Amino acid sequence: MQHPRMALRIATIGRNGQVARALAAAADGQSGITLDQAPSSEADLRDHASLSRFIDRSAPDVLINAGAYTFVDRAETEGEAAFAINEAGPRFLAETCARRGIPFVHMSTDCVFDGTKAEPYAEEDTPNPLSAYGRSKLAGERAVAEVNPDALTVRVCWVFSGFANNFVSKLISLARDASSLQIVDDQVGPPTFAPDVASALLRIAGAMRGAPGSLSGLLHLAAPDEMDRAAMARAIMTESRRQGGPFAAITGISSTAYAAAAHRPLNARLSGALATQMFALSWTPWPEALERSVAAVLARG
Ligand SMILES: NC(=O)c1ccc[n+]([C@@H]2O[C@H](COP(=O)([O-])OP(=O)(O)OC[C@H]3O[C@@H](n4cnc5c(N)ncnc54)[C@H](OP(=O)(O)O)[C@@H]3O)[C@@H](O)[C@H]2O)c1
Repeated sequence: MQHPRMALRIATIGRNGQVARALAAAADGQSGITLDQAPSSEADLRDHASLSRFIDRSAPDVLINAGAYTFVDRAETEGEAAFAINEAGPRFLAETCARRGIPFVHMSTDCVFDGTKAEPYAEEDTPNPLSAYGRSKLAGERAVAEVNPDALTVRVCWVFSGFANNFVSKLISLARDASSLQIVDDQVGPPTFAPDVASALLRIAGAMRGAPGSLSGLLHLAAPDEMDRAAMARAIMTESRRQGGPFAAITGISSTAYAAAAHRPLNARLSGALATQMFALSWTPWPEALERSVAAVLARG
């Protein structure tokens, strides 16, 4: 049994990524939580010995893998790197955690689905990835579940914030050099605020602490709002202009006409209903999350 006042020690693979940074901000000031984050230079998912060394040094109560190969288009031609980082690395982490009795949280994506379902995707829906990235992430989910049935894989989608690189920072950066941008308008998803994902992950880690297997399998974390990418882009541009930042007019374009290297699901909606109910999660309203994200990106310059 855990002592109620003992700090919860969470280690993360990944330190500079969007979710990792949001975790650091969420944990900051929570007196019961200490966070130990390894950048890829310290714990590299392609270098299993470095992962072991980090877990030994950190000795966490819970390990969260917030590291991944996330270059969706480049993965089409860099399959080897994508699978090494998204499948083999997580398999090793999951095995190590199983052996040491450390609860393990892995992260995955809506890109494991083909997007043909008319409704938001639930945890029990059958994956069918359209891209090399999606296949590597699905392979990672399956490897983790195979070697560590007590592990939990959390799928997220369309994560945005003022941290690191994401759709908000990319659009504002593009709008510095362009007066109009073409953005796909046939992909629909739930823009999900990274600080909300981070708070949920901390709650999940707290629930799993000292009890591997208390939460296992798959869980979707997604905000209840949904919109298409072009609508999201227009909202970001309007908010950027309102805050004195760059603005570009957004023209909607179909995914076929846009011709990105990787296919993405047209329906990227994950249903976060189960997690929301289990953990009584509250989601920051979209206008407030957008305002905070744009402000943080503009402040970064
Ligand atoms: N952002 C989204 O919209 C989105 C959507 C669906 C799913 N996800 C999933 O959510 C998780 C977190 O994504 P994110 O948005 O935070 O990604 P991100 O901003 O692209 O950051 C990538 C993270 O992965 C780490 N990383 C990259 N290569 C690595 C390697 N070889 N070894 C160890 N770590 C490595 C990076 O390390 P450093 O700290 O050294 O930079 C960084 O922390 C991932 O599993 C991703 O697939 C994200």
